[in-house]
Amino acid sequence: MDKQPDEQLSKLKNKALPALAEVKTAQELEAWRIVYLGRKGAIPKYLRGIKDLSPQEKRSIGKQGNELRHNLEEQYKQKKQQVTTTATTLSEDEEATTGHLHPITLSIRRIQNILTSLGFTSVEGPLVEESRYNFDLLNIPLEHPARAATDTFYLENGHVLRTQTSPIQLRAVLEQRMTPPLKIFSPGRTFRAERTDASHEATFHQFEGLAIAKDITIADFKGTIETFMSEFFSAKATIRLRPSFFPFVEPGFEIDVSCVFCKQRGCRICKHTGWVEIMGAGMVHPNVLKNMNIDYKKYQGFAFGGAIDRLTMLRHNINDIRLFWSGDFKFLRQFS
Ligand code: DAH
Repeated sequence: MDKQPDEQLSKLKNKALPALAEVKTAQELEAWRIVYLGRKGAIPKYLRGIKDLSPQEKRSIGKQGNELRHNLEEQYKQKKQQVTTTATTLSEDEEATTGHLHPITLSIRRIQNILTSLGFTSVEGPLVEESRYNFDLLNIPLEHPARAATDTFYLENGHVLRTQTSPIQLRAVLEQRMTPPLKIFSPGRTFRAERTDASHEATFHQFEGLAIAKDITIADFKGTIETFMSEFFSAKATIRLRPSFFPFVEPGFEIDVSCVFCKQRGCRICKHTGWVEIMGAGMVHPNVLKNMNIDYKKYQGFAFGGAIDRLTMLRHNINDIRLFWSGDFKFLRQFS
């Protein structure tokens, strides 16, 4: 009898151990403990039943029962350690993957901080834009190549996915009935029907700036952009203006910034020229001022538009614009 394992005990053991093996979480483990080892659990209940047996049986079965209880308690302890370690590993893991801002968002905030400190007010505009704001009122004639469907995403109702942040100049001034002197800027998403490659994406980001007052000159504009660039790259930067054409400004410029990476000694980033092309700008065209209901004989101003993706790529030495949308954690984690 002593050697004969009790049938009921064997059954209990054969249920309890596989059930414990299945346990994966602390909650499951607690549920298991209640069923088998808890005050009203199967093992204590069994042991309580022993008192009705003959003294001989009591000894034998009691011994086996207690052994099983110790065994289960031991395994329970081990399991408990396992589930708590897993829980800790999980939470460490969670910590490692705690969300953080996207590099483009970080750049937008950086741009906002710099321009706000320079006295510009942030405004917002819609991504789906009326073509009069995106083109007509910006003095972009109907025959301008940028209007072609190959560059622009058109909606059936004739609206467009804005191809630039420049429309915000007109929209903000007209909608909010702003009058000079005014200094506004607007960062945001822009779209073009582009074939994508390392430096082109169909969805990208720009920021637009506009300053209008009585006596604003190109010198103010140069100072503003130079300060902006030095702040953005955390390094003393100078800029140079190259004459260029944009329908909404006259004169218009391409702005190059001195290469902050090689201090103009020449490197891969500036293609050994010492300069990096970074934004378009110019003095606001009289037609655009007129479209804003601003007296172009009294007021003048400058506007600039920069590519946020490009600025971000330069600042962090990123060589492919498509990484921004890749959803690749190896890339994104570097900006946490
Ligand atoms: N909107 C232009 C573009 O997407 C950039 C630009 C050029 C903005 C000149 C301006 C400007 O405000 O004056 O290429």
